[in-house]
Amino acid sequence: MEKIVSFCKRKGFVFQSSEIYGGLGGFYDYGPLGSQMKKNIKDSYLNFMVNSRQNIVSLDSAIITNSKVWEASGHLKNFTDPLTECKSCHKRFRADHLMEKNNVNDLSLLKCPECGGELMDVRNFNLMLKTFIGPVEDASAVAYLRPETAQSIFINFKNVLDTQRIKIPFGIAQIGKAFRNEITPSNFIFRTREFEQMEMEFFIKPGEQEKWYKYWISESMRWYTEVLGIKKENLRVKEAAKEDLAHYAIACSDIEYNFPSIGWSEIEGIASRGDYDLSQHEKFSGQELKYFDEATKEKYVPYVIEPSVGVDRLMLALICDAYSEYEKGRSQDGDSMETVLKLNSKISPVKIAVLPLVKNKEVITSKAKEVFDLLSPYFISEYDETGTVGKRYRRQDEIGTPFCVTIDFETLEDNAVTIRNRDTMEQERVLISELKEYFNKNV
Ligand code: GAP
Repeated sequence: MEKIVSFCKRKGFVFQSSEIYGGLGGFYDYGPLGSQMKKNIKDSYLNFMVNSRQNIVSLDSAIITNSKVWEASGHLKNFTDPLTECKSCHKRFRADHLMEKNNVNDLSLLKCPECGGELMDVRNFNLMLKTFIGPVEDASAVAYLRPETAQSIFINFKNVLDTQRIKIPFGIAQIGKAFRNEITPSNFIFRTREFEQMEMEFFIKPGEQEKWYKYWISESMRWYTEVLGIKKENLRVKEAAKEDLAHYAIACSDIEYNFPSIGWSEIEGIASRGDYDLSQHEKFSGQELKYFDEATKEKYVPYVIEPSVGVDRLMLALICDAYSEYEKGRSQDGDSMETVLKLNSKISPVKIAVLPLVKNKEVITSKAKEVFDLLSPYFISEYDETGTVGKRYRRQDEIGTPFCVTIDFETLEDNAVTIRNRDTMEQERVLISELKEYFNKNV
């Protein structure tokens, strides 16, 4: 993981937030390549989840809501983690994580992992980040930064139903920031205090929850393996034990990724939430949040299946999965390490690198710039003329660029370029007039 963290910083994927001021625990900034990669992940999600289905629509709601939302959802009361603190060094820890790591059920058997000091009794710590609305910072002005995007979907259930021509089963998906005052943010962008979620609430007829719960687990696995190309052996589905379920869930499965250093850990939770949320919001708002089935004349509060993925965690999984090192280069006889980021081309931050074979021949560089101008409005491209072609290929391999296009002296004769594939390193000659079509098919 250390290697991945320094790679992400060195190449401009992820930086520590507020770095010039010493950083801020649990917050990260996404650099030029990271922000582009994140956008590609979100675009892929929207394509897979919303655009290619007739019965799923999208939403983009406010981060701050009326505080009653969190009272109704149960977050104010139940969204807590067990906190303990060392009596000597005053470091704070998640009590459940400490016990799990040491394989014990009783915290009093443990000492502080930092200094060996005695640990305080456990208290429940609410994870929601607070702020105040307006000029007076009193109790009536308290508001919360949302700890999940899901609740805004539930409170917009009626708005969506009344304005869209959709029938159950249907889903509302949303991508957006969520905030949790994690006790111990850890493992780089795996557990942070500000992160992004991609959540979908799928509203169904009560009684059909088993079928749809299984369906969405298999759809998520299909997205990871067939669309994003994550290696199957690094993914698994783990059903939660009843006693570990969140306060709203009747069943939940985690999709886990086998992260280096961290081991198997959740990237997505798929929960069967019953009618808990809509019923709670009916109770607290006094508004009816039921569905009327025209065909059967039945009226009911729908049940919900919720697939919920973290963008940041998924991005970390994708980078870990794609990161490959070759001690002596891919040819095995080189004298330096070669790194290749074998990202799916849909996710790669840069799709095409345009490389003039030489940089001191105007005819070549101006032709290369023409090719860059032709491709860059359609595909994120880079123009690079510095160093040998071999070095430039390696630079692009390292950041996961799937294709390099080289312009050479022959190009001036035949109006064709050489396309080099990142993974196979094979090269093919393609006419400049056919490049757009070629990349439309391949990235
Ligand atoms: N609405 C359900 C919900 O929020 P969750 O399991 O708490 O469920 C869903 O969160 C996903 O959000 C997780 O699988 C993870 O990918 C991401 N996530 C949760 N907490 C996170 C954190 N502190 N940092 C980064 N990602 C987080």
